[in-house]
Amino acid sequence: MLSELYKIAKPALFQCDAETAHRMTLSLLSTWPVLAPPSDPPELHIKLWDLEFSNPIGLAAGMDKDAVAAGAWQGLGFGFAELGTVTPRPQPGNPRPRVFRLPGDRALINRLGFPSDGMNAVARRIERMRERGVALKLAINLGPNKDTEVERVVEDYAALVRRMSALADFIVVNVSSPNTPGLRTWQSPERMREIFAAIATAMPVTARRPPILLKVAPDLESADLRQICDTTLELALDGIVATNTTLARGALGITSEQAGGLSGTPLRGRAREFIREIHRHSGGRLKIIGVGGVSSADDAWEHIRAGASLVELYTALIYQGPGVVAEIKRGLMALLRREGFRSISDAVGTGA
Ligand SMILES: Cc1cc2nc3c(=O)[nH]c(=O)nc-3n(C[C@H](O)[C@H](O)[C@H](O)COP(=O)(O)O)c2cc1C
Repeated sequence: MLSELYKIAKPALFQCDAETAHRMTLSLLSTWPVLAPPSDPPELHIKLWDLEFSNPIGLAAGMDKDAVAAGAWQGLGFGFAELGTVTPRPQPGNPRPRVFRLPGDRALINRLGFPSDGMNAVARRIERMRERGVALKLAINLGPNKDTEVERVVEDYAALVRRMSALADFIVVNVSSPNTPGLRTWQSPERMREIFAAIATAMPVTARRPPILLKVAPDLESADLRQICDTTLELALDGIVATNTTLARGALGITSEQAGGLSGTPLRGRAREFIREIHRHSGGRLKIIGVGGVSSADDAWEHIRAGASLVELYTALIYQGPGVVAEIKRGLMALLRREGFRSISDAVGTGA
């Protein structure tokens, strides 16, 4: 039904530029009533940290930066949604146009640069969503403002954690967007230590400390990725989100010269290599959320077998519409049966 509706709406949406189509879709989804989530078969349930996910398929960061449509993500059957990136103060992001479709490649390039309503507006929206009965697991993805001086970036993360952590089932620290100048330098071990020391101090003392994950770029050298894994373990973080969008073009067969981060099908192989490397290097100790180029049950399955406990997607929603979530879940059930696994958790890392 959803897939049919999307098939009708897609040509009109694709007549508009990518960001306008996105805004129209989000404003429609934000008006949806809060619907009960479709129930998922027990084989798809997965427990991670202290959280029970009804299925492993999540919405990736960037689709709902300002937390306007959490009710819709629940109704569409996602197992969780990663909201954000949220910045401390509101900011407009880069000048438009800043999102581009590459339909032949099933890919997008974006250089949005964290447009955000700012943490206070987003926090209030999440509070209202919760009051309205949204029970979906919500991750909040955090990033600094563009005009924050380098010496003050850790203070931005601290402020975000202070304001947002009580509202998040888990937190993702974004140091990997290619569109905020200098951000990726925070992936170095020394700088990671600075950020997470500040976060530890800022974390409110409450009954529950949300799990904290780091989101990495797919453009790291292998040695750097391994060093990040070691530092993530040293700092006792709860996992890694792999990966953000890539700056690579020709190596992935892309000819477009638009500046920004590339997502979608061309990113899939590289994201999977990163997931596998993190799983192997950490001996399975690091929990991984696999993201990049997932558009089918096979894609999700192979990310899981490479080591991902949860999987996220964004670009596939643009090309296939919201029906893709139910389709992937159905396909995962068939794959579990065919391969003789009792649950998703049993399959994690079996192909690493
Ligand atoms: C238009 C757009 C905006 C994005 N914004 C963010 C963001 O704000 N923060 C972030 O961590 N990732 C952001 N991402 C990256 C996605 O979360 C994801 O890591 C990437 O797109 C790969 O997944 P996909 O191939 O399923 O799209 C964005 C991606 C797209 C396409």
